[in-house]
Amino acid sequence: MNGPNLGILGKRQPEIYGTDTLQDIERWVGEEVAERGWKVDSYQFDGEAEIIRTIQGNYDTVGAIINPAALMMAGWGLRDALANYPRPWIEVHLSNVWAREQFRHESVTGPLAAGVIFGLGALGYRLAARALLEKVPD
Ligand code: DQA
Repeated sequence: MNGPNLGILGKRQPEIYGTDTLQDIERWVGEEVAERGWKVDSYQFDGEAEIIRTIQGNYDTVGAIINPAALMMAGWGLRDALANYPRPWIEVHLSNVWAREQFRHESVTGPLAAGVIFGLGALGYRLAARALLEKVPD
């Protein structure tokens, strides 16, 4: 699940977010979890409401990788939705948010995640997929 402004990844401030597209990332995540036969459903929304509704409709998934994007800073509704998501999920940020503006140094959603990965670009999603393979029992 990807939040606001991530649909234009590849063309969005490439010096910060890299040139990989969301489609590239989705493919790589699919490759990581193929060994378990997991199917990957990928979503990107610019609006918080659509993200919340999608989370509410996906309680029957094995887990999730979530880049809340700017909703990390004030997405309280998203946080409440994630508090009720019954499966393990990993928060990912492409950029090293600690090396950026002060307002990116805290995530309102991060404390609910099984783990948080940031600063590794698209590799972070692959590592999150591998973490889910470990976190979700057979
Ligand atoms: C981001 C970091 C956020 O602070 C920012 O608002 C984004 C992208 C990242 O992946 O590095 O939109 O989540």
